[in-house]
Amino acid sequence: MKLTVAGTGYVGLVTGVCFAEKGHEVTCVDIDEQKVALMRSGVSPIYEAGLEELLKKNLAAGRLHFTTDYEGAYAAADAIFIGVGTPEQPDGSANLSYIATVCRQIAQCVTKDCLVVVKSTVPVGTNEKVEQFIKDNLVRDLKIRVASNPEFLAQGNAVHDTLHATRIIIGTEDEEAERLLIQIYTPFDLPIVSVSRRSAEMIKYACNNFLALKISYMNDMANLCELVGANIDDVAEGMRYDPRIGAKFLKAGVGYGGSCFPKDTKALTFLARQHGISLKSVEAAVQINAAQKTRLFEKAEKRLMTFENVKVAVLGLAFKPGTDDLREAPSLDNIRLLKERGAQLCCYDPVAGGNFARKYPDVPLAGSIEEALTDAFCCFVFTEWDEIVRLSPETFRRTMRVPLVYDGRNIFDPDNMKRAGVEYYSIGR
Ligand code: UDX
Repeated sequence: MKLTVAGTGYVGLVTGVCFAEKGHEVTCVDIDEQKVALMRSGVSPIYEAGLEELLKKNLAAGRLHFTTDYEGAYAAADAIFIGVGTPEQPDGSANLSYIATVCRQIAQCVTKDCLVVVKSTVPVGTNEKVEQFIKDNLVRDLKIRVASNPEFLAQGNAVHDTLHATRIIIGTEDEEAERLLIQIYTPFDLPIVSVSRRSAEMIKYACNNFLALKISYMNDMANLCELVGANIDDVAEGMRYDPRIGAKFLKAGVGYGGSCFPKDTKALTFLARQHGISLKSVEAAVQINAAQKTRLFEKAEKRLMTFENVKVAVLGLAFKPGTDDLREAPSLDNIRLLKERGAQLCCYDPVAGGNFARKYPDVPLAGSIEEALTDAFCCFVFTEWDEIVRLSPETFRRTMRVPLVYDGRNIFDPDNMKRAGVEYYSIGR
């Protein structure tokens, strides 16, 4: 089918490339000319495993196109997928202005009956508003169907999560819209869950909020483990075999970051408040996460006399491995505090360094782990990149002035660190 995807961020670009990979004729629209030129030349503007290879392959096969000409792209489409951002507003609600802009353009440009699919994460009831808004702005007498189709891709694994999704959620009350979406997804050969639009919108929030809650629960348990002399990693190991609990998202650490959990927890609590209730469980998860991010910093502050003019190494800046994304990364909260206390920072990340340098041009960035650690009095670990996981305790002992390590991802074995002479603190152990 002829598909157009609006927006080439994580969601839009990955969706477009994967649809092309499954044989559809895909046009991705973005307003950024430089970005479009880059993608046309076969370069992915985002760091995502396997994405650039598939982009190149499908460009060469003539199934994938990039353009700023939204008029042509919307006019020709059998279905238009909206994958633009819904950033957080100061009050925690989702900003729908990018979606509104796309809807206005669609209304003005479509020349035949068309299916519009909302992939962006949007508050419950938005799909109905989108349909009405397009109808209100339509310049031709056409039938526009609007369906919800949330995605569950995780950054760093986005291509795999799209091609091998655990399920496809189709949210629509319209039989023709459902039929078209099933047809679009048939080549993926995945389980399909068909529900109403409002339920589909809610599923996305319910999933992300549940996962955030699960992480905060484990962090809460980790903090208690420290006090009662238990080990959170052993506790998680004992929990994960229970299929009712599940084996994933049980890792305690310095808290979750990224473009989804922080934003979606706030958006859902905002939605609940709008309806006169408070989501106490999610609010607690948000509070736990905020406190968790700087737990190790607070411990270090108690241990050290001062951070003033003290060389501090920071290993890992991205909110998780496999991505160059720094949004809401725990590293940033800690770096802000360390800067305020006058620490001499030396930061390292194998992939997110470039993004970090653009955001914090005044914070020194090391070209290697070794450089960051050399003569440091203290080291914080915020992202479990392979390269960092593989470090031996001896490296800290040998390279640092004082081998004092605060590990926010429970990477290293406390006994090995102790044996090597490293003073080592982690989470819940
Ligand atoms: C998440 C969801 O997983 C995905 O389904 C949704 O579409 C978007 O939001 P993402 O934000 O890319 O994806 O990353 P994810 O792997 O879920 O990790 C989010 C954060 O939680 C990271 O900061 C990670 O370090 C943290 N995390 C994850 C933990 O602290 N413990 C865990 O056990 C798992």
